[in-house]
Amino acid sequence: MTTSLTTTLDTRKQNAHLTFKHNRHSGRHGWLRLTPAYSVPLVSNILDDHKYAAKVLDPFSGTGTTALCAAYMGLRGTGLEINPFLVWFSSVKFRQFSPATIENARSLGAVIAVASSSGGAPAVDPPPIHNIERWWNDEDLRFLCRLKACILDTSEEGCDERDLLLVAFCRVVITLSNAAFNHQSMSFKDTNKSPTLFELQRDNADIFRKELSLVLNGAADNPRIEPTVVTGDARQPSRFLHDKFDMLITSPPYPNRMSYIRELRPYMYWLGFLTNGRDASEYDWQAIGGTWGAATSRLAAWEPSGKAFTPTTLKKSLTGISDPKNDNGKLLANYVAKYFEDMWSHISDISAILNRDSEVHYIVGNSTFYATLLPVEEIFKAMLQEVGWALIRHAGLTVEEFLDLL
Ligand SMILES: C[S@@+](CC[C@H](N)C(=O)[O-])C[C@H]1O[C@@H](n2cnc3c(N)ncnc32)[C@H](O)[C@@H]1O
Repeated sequence: MTTSLTTTLDTRKQNAHLTFKHNRHSGRHGWLRLTPAYSVPLVSNILDDHKYAAKVLDPFSGTGTTALCAAYMGLRGTGLEINPFLVWFSSVKFRQFSPATIENARSLGAVIAVASSSGGAPAVDPPPIHNIERWWNDEDLRFLCRLKACILDTSEEGCDERDLLLVAFCRVVITLSNAAFNHQSMSFKDTNKSPTLFELQRDNADIFRKELSLVLNGAADNPRIEPTVVTGDARQPSRFLHDKFDMLITSPPYPNRMSYIRELRPYMYWLGFLTNGRDASEYDWQAIGGTWGAATSRLAAWEPSGKAFTPTTLKKSLTGISDPKNDNGKLLANYVAKYFEDMWSHISDISAILNRDSEVHYIVGNSTFYATLLPVEEIFKAMLQEVGWALIRHAGLTVEEFLDLL
């Protein structure tokens, strides 16, 4: 174990050059949005200088940016991810597709676009998502139900063509929805406003054709090596991964109470990964940093195990956050303490699956609770030192400064 480098994104600011916004026009990387996904250049710039790193790991893989970047550079990329939808989605994103598969998917798509425009076409039931009328108006919802039924009718379960069609379907789900992804997490557009000319004139079948075309263009650009994604919990990476890696590049969940389930709900309900709110809360509770639904009440009852290493900086922050003058200070201190107990579990196990001269890069985000700024990079540094990492550096806010350090 030699170097570890932590980059801090100030999650109170926009960091478009480091985040998903940069990926929208980068083929497969732009297929679906996850707000806290990081950018392709951020990963490829690190890898450019480390071509010796034959095996690259991302233990909090999300949409698979790290492993796919590595694979385009001819390196073996592996992702570990707890969310089953993201595991499915990355597995499609990572696949090598033959020209024949892409042509088949294109022809099926043309048939599906026509069939789903007819009001009389078969339709699946709408997904059991709470307040569905906030997400889609009646007409769009009926179109989506027909579109999904047509995809299922014309393709075989588990085949590459169906998976590509379903990725395009997910894009249509978001294009037609009232959800706005214009800040750290999603919110709903104001539906009281009059519709725009685009909304009045839009042709849903044509939107599907365009989204499919974008997906198939990305599918045609195959990675040099097919990366791997494994379902598992990064709190115990060595339980799920039995290889040894040379390089770790990751952005763990940020301690900013963002819920991945909240953002991924439309995809997860439409594709059957979620069927009720109880499971949504359970998934969020299992993920590090989740606070969706019942996860909040479970957090109130959470007690530290007493076994985690707690650096002085973290102790100070916890005292500041839990100050009695802060409403919900105790609950938020529990949130932060649990987040770092989970991270400690991750950091204290990760060396078991890394080669001796490996390097780790944690892209972390800080946040403020009341007047207390949580120095996340300092806490990561102390934890990494505690388990024996040497040469720990951390980079600040700008990508230029970050790249200069590499
Ligand atoms: C900040 S996102 C990573 C985004 C990724 N860099 C990308 O470009 O898409 C953090 C990810 O960690 C995952 N996660 C949360 N808790 C986890 C755990 N215990 N084990 C594995 N993955 C986890 C979340 O589901 C989420 O996808």
